[in-house]
Amino acid sequence: MKCVIAVAALVAVAAGACNKDITVSSAADISTVNACTKFQGDVIIDGLEGFDSIGALSMDSVQQISGDLIIQNLYNLQTVSLGQLTSVGSLKILNNTNVYKVAIPNLASAADFQVITNPNLKELTYSNLTSVSNFQVIDTYVASLGAFTASSVGNIEVLSNTQLSTLDFSAVKKTSGYINIANNGRNSNITFSQLTQVGGNVSFGNAATLDISKLSSVSDDFSLYLNSFNNLSVPALQTAKKSITLSQNQFTAISFPLVASIGSSLDITNNTNFRSISPSTFPKLSSVPGSIVIAGSFDNITFPSLKSVEGQVVLSGSGKMSCDDASSDFASVGSLNLKCELTVVSGSDDSTGGSSSHGSGSGGSGSSSKKESSASRTTVAAVLGGVVVIAAACL
Ligand SMILES: *[C@@H]1O[C@H](CO)[C@@H](O)[C@H](O)[C@H]1NC(C)=O
Ligand SMILES: *[C@@H]1O[C@H](CO)[C@@H](O)[C@H](O)[C@H]1NC(C)=O
Ligand SMILES: *[C@@H]1O[C@H](CO)[C@@H](O)[C@H](O)[C@H]1NC(C)=O
Ligand SMILES: *[C@@H]1O[C@H](CO)[C@@H](O)[C@H](O)[C@H]1NC(C)=O
Ligand SMILES: *[C@@H]1O[C@H](CO)[C@@H](O)[C@H](O)[C@H]1NC(C)=O
Ligand SMILES: *[C@@H]1O[C@H](CO)[C@@H](O)[C@H](O)[C@H]1NC(C)=O
Ligand SMILES: *[C@@H]1O[C@H](CO)[C@@H](O)[C@H](O)[C@H]1NC(C)=O
Repeated sequence: MKCVIAVAALVAVAAGACNKDITVSSAADISTVNACTKFQGDVIIDGLEGFDSIGALSMDSVQQISGDLIIQNLYNLQTVSLGQLTSVGSLKILNNTNVYKVAIPNLASAADFQVITNPNLKELTYSNLTSVSNFQVIDTYVASLGAFTASSVGNIEVLSNTQLSTLDFSAVKKTSGYINIANNGRNSNITFSQLTQVGGNVSFGNAATLDISKLSSVSDDFSLYLNSFNNLSVPALQTAKKSITLSQNQFTAISFPLVASIGSSLDITNNTNFRSISPSTFPKLSSVPGSIVIAGSFDNITFPSLKSVEGQVVLSGSGKMSCDDASSDFASVGSLNLKCELTVVSGSDDSTGGSSSHGSGSGGSGSSSKKESSASRTTVAAVLGGVVVIAAACL
């Protein structure tokens, strides 16, 4: 058998078959690629290009593909096996409705690793991904990811994998591009324990735990949405070059002990259980060139070092603090532009006899909680919408 493959390889090389782009239109084309140890060109297997009958794609001999390997729009495809493949230009596995198993056990290097919109994909096997510039796993059914051993990466995007609970990126020290992780399994634990620098946006959503304990610099927007853990600690962050947005999380405590300035705005909105911006929340923050927007039920808002806010300070919601309190809390800010819409509610009637004395108040809180849940659906829809756009852009 080995001999036959070797002979086939020689024939293929002699014919230059290992040295050109190929759009697969038959099983024979797959054998041609597989007969090459190193295939120099792109390999495109696309159901919309006429070859849509394949159920099991096995190319277990080819070791390197210097161009792209694109496997897409294959409705009948169920399994993919690339047993010896160690390096590929870009690997794109897109929109294969029924594929449930993809095995690339030896893959070490890929410029793009994109596995997008394979909604029945349960098993995605790779174990030694050491070099990748753009890593995207979006809209699959995988319960775990393979070992990710790259320390320096371009972008990382992991979205809408509803069964995925462990996202271990503890090998990653820095990214030149963005990190976007959201809408995975309900209890997803996200670990970026060695990450120090992000060159683009960073956004984490729907996490049960998040370790970003060494993150010191973010070059674009930093956002946290819809996370379910209580204690947000970003102990090493010194540089946030654009905005910081914390919205709709379950945080009760927030701490950014080293942030002295941010590049744009600070938004802390609709984190229902977060009631106090205390002296230890942003102890060093002294200048904000954009705006500060705070919405929620606040008892205290204190920024002990804040001297300058060039945009507006917008406060809204209901808690124990009043607009008078706010004016004095922000008194150290030069030429303060404060827009305050705080409603004071007394603390003791939250859960007890308060409803009798505030008939309209309790109606108001009912409708505001409705608004919050529709806001969260909108966000999820927006994330999903983004996935569709990304998937469409990739196809
Ligand atoms: C996804 O693949 C199916 C075939 O399985 C095809 O009919 C459909 O057009 C593809 N979707 C996109 C967005 O290309
Ligand atoms: C992982 O990949 C690197 C090359 O990128 C290789 O040197 C190493 O032997 C591989 N390790 C395993 C366990 O396969
Ligand atoms: C996530 O982490 C928490 C706390 O470390 C742990 O209790 C939980 O089991 C983890 N969840 C999963 C799905 O691994
Ligand atoms: C960063 O995220 C913001 C939204 O927060 C978006 O408008 C912007 O385009 C993103 N930047 C890049 C480079 O993707
Ligand atoms: C939050 O986490 C930080 C760092 O891990 C810790 O020092 C602090 O005590 C925690 N706060 C609460 C309220 O649990
Ligand atoms: C709010 O601040 C006041 C005065 O600084 C303090 O006495 C009170 O305990 C704080 N409340 C909360 C909930 O942090
Ligand atoms: C916060 O909640 C209010 C009222 O529920 C809503 O009007 C607003 O759009 C929400 N903001 C965000 C950023 O979710």
